[in-house]
Amino acid sequence: MLLDHLSAKLRTLEAQSLTRFLRQAESGTAPRQQVRGADGRTRELLMFCSNDYLGLAAEPALRAALIEGAQIYGGGSGASPLISGHSRAHEQVAETLGRWLTPHIPEARALGFCTGYMANLAVVTALGDEEAEIFSEAWNHASLIDGTRLARAQVKRYAHGDVAALRELLTASTAKVKLIVTDAVFSMDGDLAPLPALLALAEEFDAWLIVDDARYGITGFCIAEEVMVLDDGEIRIDLSAGLDAVRVDATLDRGPDGESIAFSGTIPVSLTDGILYRGPITDADGIEHEIDLVLGYGVGC
Ligand SMILES: Cc1ncc(COP(=O)(O)O)c(C=O)c1O
Repeated sequence: MLLDHLSAKLRTLEAQSLTRFLRQAESGTAPRQQVRGADGRTRELLMFCSNDYLGLAAEPALRAALIEGAQIYGGGSGASPLISGHSRAHEQVAETLGRWLTPHIPEARALGFCTGYMANLAVVTALGDEEAEIFSEAWNHASLIDGTRLARAQVKRYAHGDVAALRELLTASTAKVKLIVTDAVFSMDGDLAPLPALLALAEEFDAWLIVDDARYGITGFCIAEEVMVLDDGEIRIDLSAGLDAVRVDATLDRGPDGESIAFSGTIPVSLTDGILYRGPITDADGIEHEIDLVLGYGVGC
């Protein structure tokens, strides 16, 4: 009976060509990757859909740092950050990322999550309590949308890029805490959110502006910096590989909210140590190096 129900659902999806298929990568992440398709054949494909935007995955320096991290720490991290999974390596990485933000936010602190998805759930549910109202851009990433579904706050959606509609919603709101939630770059279409206008609204209505800044700007840092809105009133969520920056007093790791920091295991220490702590992306040279890699990637294709 239960299986019949599932089979019927699957048949409906099949009829609409909506069933999913997991392609199998036969080689490591790279601009050209061996991929096994639905027909069982493996082909070399040009990879435009990977999140290895900067081509860092295959960097020899990172490979070496990873091996070193694995030799020191082995696998796993033992627990969620709140229990015993927060190591010296995690702390060092968070401190480094926090320092990157201090030119804009003097007391900035960073906090690590396993993935951007987890960070978005934590930030939106922690700030979106019962006294809050969330104003969510229609084209936001699924993780922000799921965050708004889990939050106890009322949620209002505004149309894509429609600053006037957002203003109307903010004007009508009587909520004590107002949260504007947006991607910086919309993942599917690649266009930019009107961040300066959103920040102006946030200031006018005394609202938080939460920006999922999972893409690098031309400056190599983040879109919010590039359009000059990175400031004290903003919470930034970035580095889609899983380390995410929040403003100092968001209290995600101190208050009872932000469940993904309490109930989900953290990034393995060896990975954190290898890639992020000892690896070349934790300093300014690393950023320049990443930009070189992007340019090289373009040429390589
Ligand atoms: C805008 C945006 N936010 C969040 C995520 C989720 O990041 P992660 O893959 O680290 O969970 C993505 C992933 O593509 C994204 O594009």
